Amino acid sequence: MLKISSLLFCCLLSFKTFSQTSAKTIDIIPQPVSMVKSSGQFSLPATVTIGASSSAEVSSVTSYLKNKIQTATGKSVLLKGNASFTTIKLALNPTENAAIGKEGYQLTITPKGIVIKANAAAGLFYGVQTLVQLLPKEIESKTAVKGIKWAVPCVKITDYPRFGWRGLMFDVARHFFTVAEVKQYIDAMVRYKYNLLHLHLADDEGWRIEIKGLPRLTEVGAYSAKRVGYFGTFAPPPADEPRTYGGFYTQEDIKELVKYAQERFVNILPEIDVPGHSLAAVVSYPELSCTPGADKYKVRSGEEIMDWSHGQPPVALIDNTLCPANEKVYEFMDKVITQIAQLFPFQYIHLGGDECPKNFWEKSEAVKMLMQKEGLKNMEEVQSYFEKRVEKIVESKGKKFMGWDEILEGGLAPNAVVMSWRGMKGGIEAAKMGHEVVMSPTTYAYLDYMQGDPSIESKVYATLRLDKTYQFEPVPDSVDAKLIKGGQANLWTEQVYNLRKAEYMTWPRGLAIAETLWSPKASKNWDNFSQRVEGQFPRFEEAEINYAPSMYDPIVNVSRRDSTMTIALSTEIKPLDIYYSFDNSFPDRFYPKYTQPLTVPKEAAQIKIITYRGNKPISRMMSIPITDLTARLPKPRK
Ligand code: ACM
Repeated sequence: MLKISSLLFCCLLSFKTFSQTSAKTIDIIPQPVSMVKSSGQFSLPATVTIGASSSAEVSSVTSYLKNKIQTATGKSVLLKGNASFTTIKLALNPTENAAIGKEGYQLTITPKGIVIKANAAAGLFYGVQTLVQLLPKEIESKTAVKGIKWAVPCVKITDYPRFGWRGLMFDVARHFFTVAEVKQYIDAMVRYKYNLLHLHLADDEGWRIEIKGLPRLTEVGAYSAKRVGYFGTFAPPPADEPRTYGGFYTQEDIKELVKYAQERFVNILPEIDVPGHSLAAVVSYPELSCTPGADKYKVRSGEEIMDWSHGQPPVALIDNTLCPANEKVYEFMDKVITQIAQLFPFQYIHLGGDECPKNFWEKSEAVKMLMQKEGLKNMEEVQSYFEKRVEKIVESKGKKFMGWDEILEGGLAPNAVVMSWRGMKGGIEAAKMGHEVVMSPTTYAYLDYMQGDPSIESKVYATLRLDKTYQFEPVPDSVDAKLIKGGQANLWTEQVYNLRKAEYMTWPRGLAIAETLWSPKASKNWDNFSQRVEGQFPRFEEAEINYAPSMYDPIVNVSRRDSTMTIALSTEIKPLDIYYSFDNSFPDRFYPKYTQPLTVPKEAAQIKIITYRGNKPISRMMSIPITDLTARLPKPRK
């Protein structure tokens, strides 16, 4: 503990020193624990040599680095084993600094060369990621860039993560993403030291993984009818429409993905969402439901199948649940979990458990008999009975059972790990009972939410801005911090139809979560972070990764003052100037500048708003009809 706090102190000191001595900023995300900059720099020579031991794990780091440098600089890069002098030395040195753990590293750059030391290969990999961020942005290019001075500043960095679980969830069930696309997603996440990819592999809209002996899961369950627009509002497709939209991963694909992820020090957490969200399984094998007639169902193409008007749990319009009173369901789960356990080396298997409708179970004679036999008092206890049986299956394969926080309802399975999504409450309750927890609350970590104003983002249920995401703190005061394994951000893809949009939704909020999960709590600073985020944008552009510029867009808040609507404008990052018009023309910096809340001129039809930094436009142009603003007003109290 003493060691950690002295490192932290050093970190705070070093940034101060750095800001006093250097004109050029260093924009590393996540912020390293300790960074001391000295004068001078090191320039990559015409031929770059990398010295490292040749263990399999270290080889994946050296080939990653070699490939990156060779591709972007066009220089030749030679691997030199343990030669005494090399341009970049990667040294495994397990005894030197135990406090940095298996993922920490020390990066030293002097005018003579670059040395990365770590206790394990993962640490070397993260040292390489930091080194890449110190190189000019063109290092992210996919082709050789001429005329760049490939220099890095002299620094000494000591760095290690705050949490071992640094995750992103990618929902490949709502829309299917190819193996190549998932690899691209992994490539982007490891730049920011994420080490866990949670793949949501089965839902109402598709079953995405080959299970031998259950062929209909992928022959039937992986395909729907293609629709674009506002997912959830579509008309049911005609019964005879060909179902060709979707796809699945063969077991060979999964092995390839697992290997690709492992070479980048990423674990893949597989999720099969049961007993709700299971329409694709029910359509494939209708006998798994409690509902006669399920053989008429189709994999969901975005039509309405749930009534949410009563809150949680939702009421299902068609039965998308597995039947907890049917022994065949447990045989099915055993087959699926056996193969999942063999395919994914990660210790945990996620079995969903969220948003399970109970209305079809309530009508089922089989469920009534199960309740009598097992003494189950209500539907939550019925779900808990299911979860406990599934936990036993998972444990029989030598794995740990994990689920969304609904698995607490009706009694938590004895060793279950809880992923808390409906705020932090479920996580706190589970940790108080001694269970391991991963925090991924909607309030801070839901990447499917809009990152800015609904007039400019594609509409979904809620908004989560970058600055709010940055406020995520996974460890609540009231619990044993050891039980909070870490956190993750979740990208649900109902409204995400392609990889560019997936990237847009992930970045830059994924940077905020990455920093929360890696950097010391005490070093968090929004103003400093938002500047470093701006430093990453040109890198995303070089890497051809999409990102949202929403943090530059104006924030619009309406309120009612004496029956008149007032419009308040502000910005997430400061200082920006806001200009607006009510006359349907495009404002620029010669238009009225926002200084105080506005009222709408008589007959005005819309407000247009833009932000500037100095004399440069920086946000997108926002146009909002006045009728839309009026609709946002809280309803007057009767
Ligand atoms: C969830 O967002 N339904 C876990």
